[in-house]
Amino acid sequence: MKEITKITPTDYEIMDEIKSRWSPRAFDDVPLSVSEVKQLLEAGRWASSSFNQQPWRIIYGIKGDPVFDRILSCLVEFNQDWAKNAQALLLTAYKNTNNEGEHYRHAMHDLGLFMGNVVIQANHKGIGAHQMGGLDPVKAHSEFGFTSEFDVATAVALGRYGGDPDTLPKDLRADELEEKRTRFKVDQFAFNGNFENKIED
Ligand SMILES: Cc1cc2nc3c(=O)[nH]c(=O)nc-3n(C[C@H](O)[C@H](O)[C@H](O)COP(=O)(O)O)c2cc1C
Repeated sequence: MKEITKITPTDYEIMDEIKSRWSPRAFDDVPLSVSEVKQLLEAGRWASSSFNQQPWRIIYGIKGDPVFDRILSCLVEFNQDWAKNAQALLLTAYKNTNNEGEHYRHAMHDLGLFMGNVVIQANHKGIGAHQMGGLDPVKAHSEFGFTSEFDVATAVALGRYGGDPDTLPKDLRADELEEKRTRFKVDQFAFNGNFENKIED
């Protein structure tokens, strides 16, 4: 099995737990326990949120339990093909109304902070997290009984790093083995003055 190495070319030094994180599609066969998954959610729990409203809501399924299969069934086929080999799946949602009953403008931002904590805590424990927007949110909303003040956002595949890339379809295997990670430069998206459009679509 080919060892996977990733190169993250930073311009400024950053914490290793951020630098070494990446999103695998092949996962180790060793199962994840409920308490391992809850430990990741605990890290999310301590994220900040607007007025501490904590809009995140999470459905979790461990491989082998029916919830895992129900989350899997909400993913687009492309994601199902590899995510079926994860050891746990999350479905993330957020409350779209705030304490005043108005539109909660920062809810998805706050869910993002939650997930930021989850993926870094996961990496700290040798667990890879692969977030997915490719799902049917309407199906997932009804499958898990969400009411209208909640919106489904993403799904997340979890499992220990060290999966066999040969288990993936050819193009995804190439992605998995790609060494160099790429990002826009800080000076392309951050300005000490007026906004400048330095990133062309
Ligand atoms: C909100 C969100 C949605 C994503 N949707 C998908 C998806 O549907 N399928 C997929 O294979 N990867 C998906 N990704 C993974 C990204 O493609 C990946 O994070 C990005 O290429 C950067 O790679 P890295 O996480 O390894 O640094 C998603 C990531 C995020 C944060």
